[in-house]
Amino acid sequence: MGNEMFRYDSSMGELVFEYCKMRLALDPVSLDFVGNKAELDAALSGLVCPEGNDPGKVLEVFADHLAPAIISCDSPRFLAFIPAAPTRASMLFDMIVSCSSLQGSSWLEAAGAVAAENQALRVLADLAGMPPGAGGVFVSGGSAANLSALAVARDTGRRDWRGRRGRRRPRVAVSDQTHSSIGNALRLLDMAELVVPTQDHRLTGDELQRALAGDRHASDVVAVVATAGTTNAGIVDDLAGIAEVAGHRGLWFHVDAAYGGAALLAPSARPLFTGIERADSFVVDPHKWLFAPFDCAALIYRQPGLARQVHTQQAVIWRSFTPTGPGIRATTPFTSPAGPGAWPCGSRWLCTAPTPTAPRWRRCWPRPGTPPPSSRRPSTWNWCATRCCRSCCSGAPAGKRPTTTVGRPSC
Ligand SMILES: Cc1ncc(COP(=O)(O)O)c(C=O)c1O
Repeated sequence: MGNEMFRYDSSMGELVFEYCKMRLALDPVSLDFVGNKAELDAALSGLVCPEGNDPGKVLEVFADHLAPAIISCDSPRFLAFIPAAPTRASMLFDMIVSCSSLQGSSWLEAAGAVAAENQALRVLADLAGMPPGAGGVFVSGGSAANLSALAVARDTGRRDWRGRRGRRRPRVAVSDQTHSSIGNALRLLDMAELVVPTQDHRLTGDELQRALAGDRHASDVVAVVATAGTTNAGIVDDLAGIAEVAGHRGLWFHVDAAYGGAALLAPSARPLFTGIERADSFVVDPHKWLFAPFDCAALIYRQPGLARQVHTQQAVIWRSFTPTGPGIRATTPFTSPAGPGAWPCGSRWLCTAPTPTAPRWRRCWPRPGTPPPSSRRPSTWNWCATRCCRSCCSGAPAGKRPTTTVGRPSC
């Protein structure tokens, strides 16, 4: 690559690898300290500058000033909040992921990553006893996962009571031990809480049933959140009892097992989780108890199609996706809009074109036949055109080749 910025600098590489090897070999990992703002500001002062910096200096600032001001959740001396326990293997593979610029947006762009993602999700779904059709997605943490699941709960519930309940906000039954991210998600989603009183902080089916029976607006409740491993005390709610009530009342049953879900693997604790297999959605955080590095939360739905309906984004650039198959991510290559098999090279990039003879940009730009000015071209246009010409068009039967080829001279 011509640009120096993108060239591999082996001496910089050695510096970084040496640091990584030192950090990976720490035994025990040091706890480090709470930062001092004035000292951190002084260390960072002037670092972002037009002329750039010597890599050694940047690493020095990180190693000497920033890293020690980050409490190591993987230190054996970290006894606050929720610790992390990433294995050395998981951290090493995280380096490979970074060095490979991996993303897992879709099957189209990242089938290799999505296939592995689906396999890991399947293991967790099986552990919980979810049906074969269950599937989901990894997101950045339990808070994001709870928010995503509750959006689906809300919209699925809304569909059922559209027109019936006036303009009142949908509500979700929780306990006083429900994680704060649920309250936050409900606020963001314009939903309200029904806090079910509990005797000893463990939410049971009977308590839920009683609270709903005594509530004048119980019909506004569209979902219930049970916690499998509360943050304060590790309590697992009465999942089977809550599932029963949720089933009778048609409530979305969400299980927040972000913290405790890993205990599904412990035969001694597994019976506590009976009922999780009836969840509409559940969350478990591999970055907590499942030995993965930050950030990693698994979100699994009983019926991933419901989540797909709620979270699918509509945009011209996403036309090429055909979200089919198990899991939230599409697992089958997209097909030609003209129908499966109608466009033999459509198994790759050209299927983004609305018809075999209309390359993608013609649809994106309002005046068909006129290439858009470069400032208005869709960001994927060049890439798409190049790939389709290289790997597809030349192999397509003459009558099905695009009449207008745009892009690089090789096209
Ligand atoms: C029960 C529970 N749910 C959700 C979360 C939020 O997870 P995250 O910090 O990954 O967003 C936590 C975090 O401690 C938790 O204990």
